[in-house]
Amino acid sequence: MSNNLTVKVFAPASVANVAVGYDILGFALMGLGDDVIIRKGKVEGLTIKTIHKGRSLSKDPLKNTAGVSAIRLLQSLGLEREPLEMEIYKNMSIGTGLGSSAASAVAGALAVNAYFGNPYSKMQLLQYATEGEQVADGAFHADNVAPSMLGSMILVRDNKTLDCIKLPVPNGLRVVVVYPHIQILTKDSRRVLSPNVSLKQHTQQSANLGAFVASLYKTDFPLMQRCLNDLIIEPQRAKLIPGFMDIKRLGLDAGALGCSISGAGPSIFCLCNNSHIAENIHELWSNYYTDKKQLFDCFISDINKEGAYVY
Ligand code: HSE
Repeated sequence: MSNNLTVKVFAPASVANVAVGYDILGFALMGLGDDVIIRKGKVEGLTIKTIHKGRSLSKDPLKNTAGVSAIRLLQSLGLEREPLEMEIYKNMSIGTGLGSSAASAVAGALAVNAYFGNPYSKMQLLQYATEGEQVADGAFHADNVAPSMLGSMILVRDNKTLDCIKLPVPNGLRVVVVYPHIQILTKDSRRVLSPNVSLKQHTQQSANLGAFVASLYKTDFPLMQRCLNDLIIEPQRAKLIPGFMDIKRLGLDAGALGCSISGAGPSIFCLCNNSHIAENIHELWSNYYTDKKQLFDCFISDINKEGAYVY
């Protein structure tokens, strides 16, 4: 079954949680993401030959999100002894809150799948990619993996069975992301969270999540603005991110529909219903961190509707 193909895959960065859907909601970004190349190897099994720009990551396939997702898929196909070589291009730092480990996991599974002639659909590959991503924080949740694989905004109705729903993205919706250059590892950011939620918090957050999904179907931006408010997770994590409350205030005052922590942080995102507001927020956020002498990256993106692809 082996061949002499070289398969190259790109998987995009993503924003998880989206204020109202901790561990169950996420969307894919444009431009930023990781690449994985798969080709025939020289020895039995999967070898990670090179990780470009990811020096802190392990080349042991069983300790690497792309390696594990590829191996789980190979095991499922009965092909784990096939000689394969993997090359990973980490185009974003780890610990940014932009789904870096998930992007690698997605690219690993999609590349192996393409190498063997696409036996599985993208939806079926979610299982292997999510098992790969689990290496990063020990938890099994697909709120970064699913949007990176499938594109668009994804609601994960059930993380166990990976029952994922692709939601519509209204035209004109734009995202601004700022990444202050500090590293927060997901496992550390999960550790600060209380395991308990009050009934009152649950009621309001459920209403906000339901209304957010409705706002996507209705292209109802005023409704989106009313419900993009995280009452549970953001208050517990905000203190981990320098300037978070100032950045959020600047975004909301400038007309953002909502602003919150991207995934486990430290990146912060806001959604806007037009480019003019997005550009203004981009400038305000950039000036803020420049004044504070905090290194950062800031960019504007559309929501990526395609997800990972072979090129
Ligand atoms: N939902 C996850 C979290 C995203 O907030 O911890 C990061 O993996």
